[in-house]
Amino acid sequence: LQKQVKKIDYVFKIVLIGDSAVGKSQLLARFSRDEFNVDSKATIGVEFQTKTLDIDHKTVKAQVWDTAGQERYLFSFTHFPYRAVTSAYYRGALGALLVYDITKRESFDHMARWLSELREHAGDSIVVMLIGNKSDLGSLRAVSTEDAKEFAQSQNVFFMETSALEATNVEPAFVSVLTEIY
Ligand code: GTP
Ligand code: MG
Repeated sequence: LQKQVKKIDYVFKIVLIGDSAVGKSQLLARFSRDEFNVDSKATIGVEFQTKTLDIDHKTVKAQVWDTAGQERYLFSFTHFPYRAVTSAYYRGALGALLVYDITKRESFDHMARWLSELREHAGDSIVVMLIGNKSDLGSLRAVSTEDAKEFAQSQNVFFMETSALEATNVEPAFVSVLTEIY
């Protein structure tokens, strides 16, 4: 059997940001490997995964970067050495998934701050998708879809609710960002 080698037309860097435990790493696991881990450990440092897919008859390699939510939020990008790490994290990013947990109001309230930090580092032309993750936990919902839509519109970013657990909207969220970059 001959292995088909596909020519990569584009490599697009996408970053995941948002508070700890909102599900960034599991969204990435679902997107890149179609996996989900209930016992997901908090991310330490920076990791990335790639996935190659066809967009508009072109072969696009998505390089998705993932890092820890909590320490970066607390240290707020201003304290050495976090600032250096932060600018490296955002460097060259063309898209971002700004993730909150629909059952944790605080994680949604922090979105404005994450967004301003994102724009400060990555510029205004980056494609941003607001993601309300854990849509499978509807009975524990603390953020209405309407509030999130309104916030997304006011900030001029895209919006989707996802479930990494149930694999709802995960691929469409990434593909929308990649298509918009393309
Ligand atoms: P940090 O690495 O600390 O920034 O957290 P994170 O945003 O990467 O969160 P992670 O993906 O590790 O998920 C945190 C917890 O939420 C884990 O227990 C996951 O199993 C769970 N989780 C993630 N996505 C979903 C989801 O869509 N639905 C449900 N019910 N749980 C989820
Ligand atoms: Mg993580």
